[in-house]
Amino acid sequence: MLRSSRRRTTEIFKSTLASRRSLNSHSSSVPFPEKLAFAFDIDGVLKQGHHNVLPQAKRVLQLLSGSDGRLSKPIPFLLITNGGGVPDEERRAALSSELGVQLGPDQLVQSHTPLRDYVKKYQEKPVLVIGGAGESCRRVAESYGLKHAYIPQDIIKWRPAIWDRTQLTKGEESFAKTVDFSQIPLSAVFVMHDTHDWGRDIMLILDTLSAKDGILGTRRENRDDQGEVELVLSNADVEWRSDWPISRLGQGAFRLSLEAVYKATTGLQLPYKQFGKPFKATYDFSELSLRRYLSSVGRNPDVPLNVYMVGDNPASDIAGANAHGWSSILVRTGVFRDPNGEVPEHEPTVIADDVEKGVEWAIRRETGLIL
Ligand code: G3P
Ligand code: MG
Repeated sequence: MLRSSRRRTTEIFKSTLASRRSLNSHSSSVPFPEKLAFAFDIDGVLKQGHHNVLPQAKRVLQLLSGSDGRLSKPIPFLLITNGGGVPDEERRAALSSELGVQLGPDQLVQSHTPLRDYVKKYQEKPVLVIGGAGESCRRVAESYGLKHAYIPQDIIKWRPAIWDRTQLTKGEESFAKTVDFSQIPLSAVFVMHDTHDWGRDIMLILDTLSAKDGILGTRRENRDDQGEVELVLSNADVEWRSDWPISRLGQGAFRLSLEAVYKATTGLQLPYKQFGKPFKATYDFSELSLRRYLSSVGRNPDVPLNVYMVGDNPASDIAGANAHGWSSILVRTGVFRDPNGEVPEHEPTVIADDVEKGVEWAIRRETGLIL
C-alpha cells in the first residue's frame, strides 16, 4: 500500500499486480526516464537480518538492472547502508550473490566507506579501530591504507587488567597482535561498526581519549582540554531492523552510552566526528559514487538526476535524502511503523509497503506508466 505523507490510496496496489507491463515494447511512446536513479538502504529495505533477503528486493534489482526484460535499459542505482564492518570489496561480492545482481565498485557505500578519504592523514599513525566481528574492522582500516590499525583484542592481550571482565577467546588469541602500547601514541579512534563488547570498548575509548599523548595507561593532568586523540564514529543509528521483529540497538545507542559515561567521568561533552546517514559527508560521497557509476557504464556523469532514496529509517535514510535534495520513499519493512497512520518525524515523498511498491510508484511518477 502506498501513502503520500498526507493521505491513503489503496487502489493502486491491486492494479500494479494485475497489469505488469514493460518499459520497452508496448511503451515505445513513453520516453525512457533518463534522469531516474535509486539509492537503496539495506537493512529493513532489501534485507531483514544478515541472512534474510526480501523477495521484493531481488525482483526490484532484476527490474532495474534490466535483467527481467521489462526495461529497455538499466536504471542506475546504488546501495547506501549504515551497516559495515567488512571490507567494501568483500561486502560487495557477498551482496551481489545474495541479491542476484552484479554490483559495480561504486554501487555500494557502507557506513565507513566515506572514511576512505578522511583517514588519509592517519595512514602512518597508530590508531585504534573498534567494532565488528573478530579483526574484520582492522582489515577494513587496512583496506583504506591505515598501516598501524590496532583493535581492542591487541590491547587486552597486552594488559588483560585494563578490562578484566572479558578474556580473549582462543580465536581472538590467534589474531591479537603482540604490542607494547606503552610505546604507542594512539592518534585516533575509529568506530567502524556496531561493537560486540560495549563495556570493554567504552573503557578503552575513555582510556585513549583521556591518555597523555594517546599512551594507554596514562592520564592527562588537565582533563579540561579535549586532548589530541580524535574519535570518529561511522553510524548514528540508535535502532535498526534485523530479523528480530522489533528494532535492535545500533551504534548510535553505543554512542549515547559512551557520551553518558564520558560526561560522568570527565564532566566534559564527548568530542567526536560523525559519519553515516543522515550526514552530509555520506550523501555527498554517495552522489559522487553514483556519478562515477554512471560514467563506468558509459552514461553522462553530469546528467541532472531525480534520485529516489528508499529507506526504512526516517532519522537516517529520509532525513539525509531530504536534506540532500533527493526524493525519498519510506518503507514499512524495517524500523518505521505506522499502525495508526503515524506521520514520521522526517516526512518522505511517499510511504510504501515495501521496496517493490516504492520503486513501481517512482517509475509511474516519472513515466506515467504502471509496470
Ligand atoms: O548497523 C546497521 C544499521 O544501523 C542499519 O543499516 O542498512 O539500514 O542503513 P542500514
Ligand atoms: Mg535500514
